[in-house]
Amino acid sequence: MELASRELGLATRQDAPALATMSRDYIERGLGWRWRVPAIENLIASPDTVVLCARLPATHGKDIVGFGIMQYALEEAHLILLAVRPRMRRCGLAREMLAWLEKTADVAGIKKIELEVRERNVGARKFYRKQGYKSRSSIPRYYDGIETAVRMAKKLR
Ligand SMILES: CC(C)(COP(=O)(O)OP(=O)(O)OC[C@H]1O[C@@H](n2cnc3c(N)ncnc32)[C@H](O)[C@@H]1OP(=O)(O)O)[C@@H](O)C(=O)NCCC(=O)NCCS
Repeated sequence: MELASRELGLATRQDAPALATMSRDYIERGLGWRWRVPAIENLIASPDTVVLCARLPATHGKDIVGFGIMQYALEEAHLILLAVRPRMRRCGLAREMLAWLEKTADVAGIKKIELEVRERNVGARKFYRKQGYKSRSSIPRYYDGIETAVRMAKKLR
């Protein structure tokens, strides 16, 4: 899939079912489904949160191929969710979405971005390392009281 054939934009409430399903299938796989439609709708409606979608224009924006969700506080931001559909991976899409969210954070005066990732998600940890995130701590039983998380962070300034 050509990277040029998708566009980035903010999510609307109508996107919540697709994003919740992507979260369940790509991020929360094997865990309880936390990010269901109402939870995603709350994030889309929240003034502190940016929900970014990558869409295929050829499908009039109906086909969401990736998304990223970042919550902004005063000086720190938290990357809550990030996923790309399997057929669109390794084309630089996650890198582009993360750069967009980081730039927004930078403009807002954010100094540091934090995230948690499943320890066994080696591919995602490599991706974040490549984008300048450093492992800060390991949090046993973070997910559903069973699975370890790695907390990673990147200083913006
Ligand atoms: C992790 C994820 C978001 C990466 O998306 P992507 O669009 O494929 O990533 P990019 O193409 O922007 O990758 C940029 C660079 O990161 C590194 N990278 C990305 N995925 C990687 C993987 N699985 N293994 C090793 N390195 C990886 C590579 O260096 C890559 O550059 P290259 O392809 O030129 O080698 C995607 O694999 C995904 O959706 N996974 C399932 C959901 C998930 O784990 N989300 C993260 C936790 S919330």
